[in-house]
Amino acid sequence: MHCVTCSAPVNIAVVKYWGKSDETLILPVNSSVSVTLHQDQLQAQTSVAVSNNFEKDRIWLNGQEQSIDNARIQNVIKEIKRRARKQKAGNRNDAAEKLNWKIHICSKNNFPTAAGLASSAAGYACLVYALKCLYQIDGDISTIARCGSGSACRSVYGGFVVWDKGQRQDGTDSMARQIQPHTHWPDLRVLILVVNEQKKHTGSTEGMQVTMETSELIKERIGSIPDKVEQISQAINNRDFKTFAEITMKDSNQMHACCLDTYPPISYLTDVSRRIIQLVHYYNKKSQEVKVAYTFDAGPNACLFLLKKDVQKVLHLVKHFFPPTRGEKDFIRGNTSELMETESNDIEDYESYFPCDPMADSLRYIIYTMSGPGPQELTSDQSLLGEDGFPRTSS
Ligand code: DP6
Repeated sequence: MHCVTCSAPVNIAVVKYWGKSDETLILPVNSSVSVTLHQDQLQAQTSVAVSNNFEKDRIWLNGQEQSIDNARIQNVIKEIKRRARKQKAGNRNDAAEKLNWKIHICSKNNFPTAAGLASSAAGYACLVYALKCLYQIDGDISTIARCGSGSACRSVYGGFVVWDKGQRQDGTDSMARQIQPHTHWPDLRVLILVVNEQKKHTGSTEGMQVTMETSELIKERIGSIPDKVEQISQAINNRDFKTFAEITMKDSNQMHACCLDTYPPISYLTDVSRRIIQLVHYYNKKSQEVKVAYTFDAGPNACLFLLKKDVQKVLHLVKHFFPPTRGEKDFIRGNTSELMETESNDIEDYESYFPCDPMADSLRYIIYTMSGPGPQELTSDQSLLGEDGFPRTSS
């Protein structure tokens, strides 16, 4: 048996991908830009093993066996093997033999899937990266990760990433590239506000499909994207928070406007999401400076970008206006040790920041994180598969 274990990060788009021109190849109608988040707080882990003794291909996700006859998983495996065969052609390499063996895949997230965070992006990026290590494939793998889930192609790189939509019909140039590593903007921070909500939302795959079929506004959006990608890339290069923040917020608003323009309309934002948006705008206005930006994916959770020096104050405000009545224990998760290092000045007059009543228990918890590196290969003692090639009981 040959086994490899890897980890991969979640990414948050600041210029969103919404709409496909090809459903099978997963080709987007627009380019997008994202920030890869740190794996200390949010990561997927995947072990892949091949053996001559396995009877069939199998997959376990978060402790449950799933059907491997899923078109997207099959596409990823097929594409990886095709690339491996091409690269191994003419080489005497034992990796070539492994291509005919059956695969066992075991994957889990270190964060609740229910949190509505982009788990499929981290999951597919991790699967593709692990298979790349297993079959010793060279070169870019973002085009392969894209076949699992569009946004996954951006999770194969750390830091700040652009996914170029590409021109070719076969999708070979629809790939991600890193524009800056995570170390480029050391004081940029992220707060993920996980909204307390049970409702099941329209998935992004289905949502963007109906938007493409019915929205007029989406055409306008697609036309405006190239300039936005260019401007936000410049803002990232220059660590220009104001421009970065404004484009991020406007792009999120525009994507959600296209969702409302979909027929029947799709609304991912809830009253709590809208209250968070208002709070951010009030706070920025009161500060006479753009200090915080919000962005929302296909759900109500907010992802806030801000600078390290402003984190304590923003957390005070968020806790005041969205208080957890069961107490603050575990309310703030993630890189909490950093919070101890920074000074915390109490706010005197909350109402002058935001003239609204608090909404108790409307947030489940907050994750404090930052940008981080791309996928990594882990050591064999971190494997989710045992010596027999089956999930360890803890996996
Ligand atoms: C709102 O990558 O989940 O998060 O390609 O159909 O799997 P599929 O969709 P997916 O869409 C993500 C949409 C988004 C915006 C983004 O991440 O760019």
